[in-house]
Amino acid sequence: MRLRRLRIDDRESARLIHHACLQEGSVFLLDYEPSWSWNHYLKHLDTLESGDGLPDGRVPATFFVATLEQNDEILGRISLRHTISTPYLSKVGGHIGYVVTPWQRRRGYGTLMLKAALRQAQSLGIARVLVTTKEGNQGSQTIIERCGGVLEETTESSAEPGLRRYWIPLSSEMQSDTETSSTTEHSHEQDH
Ligand SMILES: CC(C)(COP(=O)(O)OP(=O)(O)OC[C@H]1O[C@@H](n2cnc3c(N)ncnc32)[C@H](O)[C@@H]1OP(=O)(O)O)[C@@H](O)C(=O)NCCC(=O)NCCS
Repeated sequence: MRLRRLRIDDRESARLIHHACLQEGSVFLLDYEPSWSWNHYLKHLDTLESGDGLPDGRVPATFFVATLEQNDEILGRISLRHTISTPYLSKVGGHIGYVVTPWQRRRGYGTLMLKAALRQAQSLGIARVLVTTKEGNQGSQTIIERCGGVLEETTESSAEPGLRRYWIPLSSEMQSDTETSSTTEHSHEQDH
């Protein structure tokens, strides 16, 4: 499994996964508007990542897809916010969000994706990562705990009751963790 940016040639497969996720109530392509060209969406992701000219309330973030090394099939997406410097992100959203392609679940990919994203977070200089999940999302809870998540609280009185807030400290040991062979690529060739 590797992490890479979305590319022009992902348009059909990514939109297929996006629609499947919408059916179950999850969002694969963050911010995606059906009226946008794929090129426009990729540019939007570039802008988000660079942080240049972001609207108020948005923070720099990298959108990765996880793909199979053998055939580049998309296994899921994982989004890494470079900072959680807004009230919403520091309480509710956290640093990392992820969705595994519905037909690729329960094969360990969610766990591998979070591990790979934690290495990316560490390379950005983030010392500890906030990951949140709704109570009852057993799969997500297991993934976070397997990745070293320490439960700070389950929210009760906030606007988001029943949210489990975990902190994952990032240590130097992670860099020698070779359990996964994730690599990253940046390839945003644009279409028109
Ligand atoms: C939650 C989600 C990311 C799990 O992805 P996944 O690739 O299936 O996770 P893994 O295969 O790494 O599973 C990790 C563990 O959780 C368990 N698990 C996964 N889904 C589960 C579920 N629905 N119910 C109970 N346990 C579950 C797995 O069995 C595994 O434990 P095991 O190794 O003992 O079998 C995926 O179901 C998903 O994308 N859901 C929709 C979006 C979402 O909820 N994202 C998280 C928001 S915080």
